[in-house]
Amino acid sequence: MTYTNNSHHFSLHTHTWLLFNFSLFTVTASSSSSHCGMAVTPSTPLLSFLQRLQQTAFETFGNSDNKFDPKTYVDLPLKFPLSVTEHAFQNLPNNNGSVTVQDLNRFLESHFEGAGDDIVHLDPQDFVPEPEGFLPKVKHPEIRAWALEVHSLWKNLTRKVLGAVKAHPNFHTLLPLPDSCVVPGSRFREVYYWDSYWVIRGLLASKMYNTATAIVTNLISLIEEYGFVLNGARAYYTNRSQPPLLSAMIYEIYLSTSDTELVKRSLPALLKEYEFWNSDIHKVSILDAQGCTHTLNRYQAMWNKPRPESSIMDRASASNFSSVSEKQQFFREVASAAESGWDFSTRWMRNPPNFTTLATTSVIPVDLNAFLIGMELNIAFFAKVTGDNSTAEHFLEISELRKKAINSVFWNANMKQWLDYWLDSSKCEEVHDWKNGRQNQNLFASNFVPLWLKPFYSDTSLVGSVVESLKTSGLLRAAGVATSLTDSGQQWDFPNGWAPLQHMLVEGLLKSGLKEARSLAEDIAIRWITTNYIVYKKTGVMHEKYDVEHCGEFGGGGEYVPQTGFGWSNGVVLAFLEEFGWPQDRNIEC
Ligand SMILES: *[C@@H]1O[C@H](CO)[C@@H](O)[C@H](O)[C@H]1NC(C)=O
Ligand SMILES: *[C@@H]1O[C@H](CO)[C@@H](O)[C@H](O)[C@H]1NC(C)=O
Ligand SMILES: *[C@@H]1O[C@H](CO)[C@@H](O)[C@H](O)[C@H]1NC(C)=O
Ligand SMILES: *[C@@H]1O[C@H](CO)[C@@H](O)[C@H](O)[C@H]1NC(C)=O
Ligand SMILES: *[C@@H]1O[C@H](CO)[C@@H](O)[C@H](O)[C@H]1NC(C)=O
Ligand SMILES: *[C@@H]1O[C@H](CO)[C@@H](O)[C@H](O)[C@H]1NC(C)=O
Repeated sequence: MTYTNNSHHFSLHTHTWLLFNFSLFTVTASSSSSHCGMAVTPSTPLLSFLQRLQQTAFETFGNSDNKFDPKTYVDLPLKFPLSVTEHAFQNLPNNNGSVTVQDLNRFLESHFEGAGDDIVHLDPQDFVPEPEGFLPKVKHPEIRAWALEVHSLWKNLTRKVLGAVKAHPNFHTLLPLPDSCVVPGSRFREVYYWDSYWVIRGLLASKMYNTATAIVTNLISLIEEYGFVLNGARAYYTNRSQPPLLSAMIYEIYLSTSDTELVKRSLPALLKEYEFWNSDIHKVSILDAQGCTHTLNRYQAMWNKPRPESSIMDRASASNFSSVSEKQQFFREVASAAESGWDFSTRWMRNPPNFTTLATTSVIPVDLNAFLIGMELNIAFFAKVTGDNSTAEHFLEISELRKKAINSVFWNANMKQWLDYWLDSSKCEEVHDWKNGRQNQNLFASNFVPLWLKPFYSDTSLVGSVVESLKTSGLLRAAGVATSLTDSGQQWDFPNGWAPLQHMLVEGLLKSGLKEARSLAEDIAIRWITTNYIVYKKTGVMHEKYDVEHCGEFGGGGEYVPQTGFGWSNGVVLAFLEEFGWPQDRNIEC
């Protein structure tokens, strides 16, 4: 995407900005499209200011080298109170609204700490260079050496939020956290929600139980503060979540540690999170062909403005919409796609690959509902552990209802896959009639995610036919499972493969216990490990995504340059190596 600024001229301190700011960003509860009467609060003064700074930086520095990252500017910690900083900004010398590179650099240096300076490296106490019992099945010396390097990356990625953030929250968009955390890496310099699940899977393989538990403690603190787990621990992520995997994190930690205290203190937070996902904005009722009404859930961010961390792109993308309400609706769909974790993908487009047709809130997603059945079962399990039998029974019952709903609304008996369902509209408080032909028949890795959950992987005849379907889907490529079959230029599409998708499918296949499924799982894992290894040898780093069409190449596309580090990729490689090992005599090459 090229960043153009065609529809509005943003000048530094003229009224153009203020008017624009007012008309677009001030929204009332009675906005035309029905979104459950959801009021969207204005950004905090700090965020509004940092977005102005971001826009000026974009105009001053440009993006000719493709290195401009708008997120950097909303991450900058202040050195002085906002009023002082804003005053200095207003007074920057400018020529007809534009600030020189030199003046802006001087201002940035004098008034801000660096992005990420408020979240510092921390040596995890439970890290040892080679933990006892580490990946016992990895016999190949070079793979073992590499696995130990990947393991050592937890040191690079463990952070602590500075006390200054809690003391002066108005100086930081970073949110204070009670414990240490592990970040994905590069521009993702804060803790993220669904990434943390695979980070934790890796930490468990690395025997770093305290570091894993600390992440969960942080996410619970976000629920206590905001009512749900934020997309990430930043002030600009307070109005959307991400795929709900906190209960799955706690479950995995509990399996390794039998930490009943953790389960006890998590349960109230999980119940609160469950309410968030079942609130009006996320809930949809479907009347199926047999006359049964089902309740399922969708992504929907409480946001109808440009995402602050990417507002340059979002404004440019929205520039062809003429009305304020169309722009607001589009911004909501963009933020909701971010809530899905799949930002961005043809999965959410009514007319792929046309980005302006994003309609995330009109999709009932297979994977979200699979995660929620997992959450229901985990809550039932935790309730049982803590002796709360009635809560346990209640959640078992609702998981049964969701299973029926998933079978009725998503399952496609011809394709032997679960397909996302398109709503006519994204209206709330209305029962939608299930209609043939509204299932999205395009191939996505998410069509197989239910396999990851017990109600589905434990049904061996079902797994048998889904395995056949996966094998012939076209999604299995040289270096792993493709996200989709559409090469749209978006990062959650072909030819990218993502660690979490590989992991969920592999683990589901494996847990089915079916021989054929197990060998497919191992095949995918070997391809994935191989490409991660070859790319690491070539580039010296772990990447956030890989090109599954070409073994030994990392992925691209999307709205920012490819990132390295990388939390969930490291986690999945370690989890796969723990499960499958690597024999001494198996070559590793593409
Ligand atoms: C957006 O998030 C902020 C901070 O959590 C909250 O105060 C506000 O109510 C949220 N907006 C909506 C519409 O929920
Ligand atoms: C100042 O900026 C405006 C808007 O971009 C432009 O139309 C005008 O020509 C500029 N004036 C000068 C003197 O550069
Ligand atoms: C806006 O519309 C023009 C003309 O159809 C098109 O070329 C351009 O790509 C569109 N811009 C965006 C951001 O969609
Ligand atoms: C993309 O979709 C928008 C909104 O429906 C439409 O106005 C535009 O013409 C489409 N662009 C292309 C290139 O098809
Ligand atoms: C909960 O159920 C278990 C058996 O499933 C039983 O042993 C226990 O006494 C029950 N607890 C309560 C509080 O009813
Ligand atoms: C990890 O951190 C060490 C020490 O700071 C550094 O030398 C190394 O390059 C880092 N590795 C990666 C892959 O970022």
